[in-house]
Amino acid sequence: MAGHDVGHRLTIVVGVTGGIAAYKAVAVVRAFVLAGHDVHVVATDAALRFVGKPTFEAISRNVVETDLYEGVAQVRHVAIGQAADLIVIVPATANTIAGLAAGLAGDLLGTTVLASAAPVVIAPAMHTEMWSNPATVANVATLRSRGMTIVGPAVGRLTGSDSGAGRLAEPEEIVAAALAVLRPRDLEGRRVLVTAGGTREALDPVRFVGNRSSGRQGLAIAAAAAARGAAVTLIGANLEVTAPASMTVRHVVSTLELEAAVTDAAPGSDLVIMAAAVADYRPETIAESKIKKETQGDRLTVELVRNPDILAGLAASRRPGQVVVGFAAETEPDDERLLALGREKIARKGSDFLVVNRVGWNEGFATESNTVLVLDAAGDIVMEASGSKESVADRLLDLLA
Ligand code: CTP
Repeated sequence: MAGHDVGHRLTIVVGVTGGIAAYKAVAVVRAFVLAGHDVHVVATDAALRFVGKPTFEAISRNVVETDLYEGVAQVRHVAIGQAADLIVIVPATANTIAGLAAGLAGDLLGTTVLASAAPVVIAPAMHTEMWSNPATVANVATLRSRGMTIVGPAVGRLTGSDSGAGRLAEPEEIVAAALAVLRPRDLEGRRVLVTAGGTREALDPVRFVGNRSSGRQGLAIAAAAAARGAAVTLIGANLEVTAPASMTVRHVVSTLELEAAVTDAAPGSDLVIMAAAVADYRPETIAESKIKKETQGDRLTVELVRNPDILAGLAASRRPGQVVVGFAAETEPDDERLLALGREKIARKGSDFLVVNRVGWNEGFATESNTVLVLDAAGDIVMEASGSKESVADRLLDLLA
């Protein structure tokens, strides 16, 4: 799990509650410890009916806390929560979720959560009926509205012979989601401009020439930058995904509209990331009314004219200290030739970095994951990343921050 290392040692409280899936909490604790963190298990009495204290103590390398009335002199009921950088509850039963929603402080885990300002990540595990019960649904919504992060549950085999929603998320997923909550605030005070999506060029009032970009990668970058403290402006061209409230969003359709919005926002930005797939050409004229077969006959010729190169313009006019990042979408299957195309493109565009990704019928565009390599202005590879568009976004920001 070394890939999850956030760079410094965190104090993590793992709350374990009474469900069969408590045994999987052991793997979560172990992963945090192996990533170098200081892990304190707070287990409910019910949890210890499923997994023994010695197991958690051996794996966490710390004393397991359970009792509200032990160590009263050290005010443990609030001290543990106050010291935590992160609280992860795994598994969280329906009962625990209800208690958290109500703000109950009847056990050490309850007081720990109430006394803590740390982010709370909850991995529920229960039977499908309990998970979909309106009481649980309302309690989970309450916890979400308070900023807690819910991981899972997954759909799959449950404890009995039944299966459905309610299975604890995999330990790796819980660990990754928990550490993602603690992104470094290394873009605090920075103004970041991100373009995302694909521009569309109108042919007539109802038709356009466009591309298959969904805006997912650009949005993931914008969201990650906002999570790291940046003031983010997202210029979205025909996004298929909804932008979160953590950023200012401007919607555009065509390349010329995108250019106008970028020209307006770029001077006030420290970092500009051009993730949008920009149409290189637009119809020379846009028909006033719908193009009709009767007037066109068997063939239709549309004359296209070149659009301005927004990225090249940005790079040429950037002020000192401003960083401009371009993307290159290429269909070239050969790795060497892909790299050569990327080098040639960054030299042509003049940006500080170029994120090269392969696109195709089933690659890059409109998919959940991405594989990229990043070139610097000299054409050297400074980073390679593969995975979900969110993880690629984080790796890119690690580099840029
Ligand atoms: N871009 C731009 N303006 C354009 C075309 C592209 O700003 N008119 C930007 C894109 O947002 C991206 C980068 O330039 O950051 C590269 O886009 P890409 O489509 O890969 O390159 P092209 O300029 O279209 O080059 P080619 O035709 O050689 O693929």
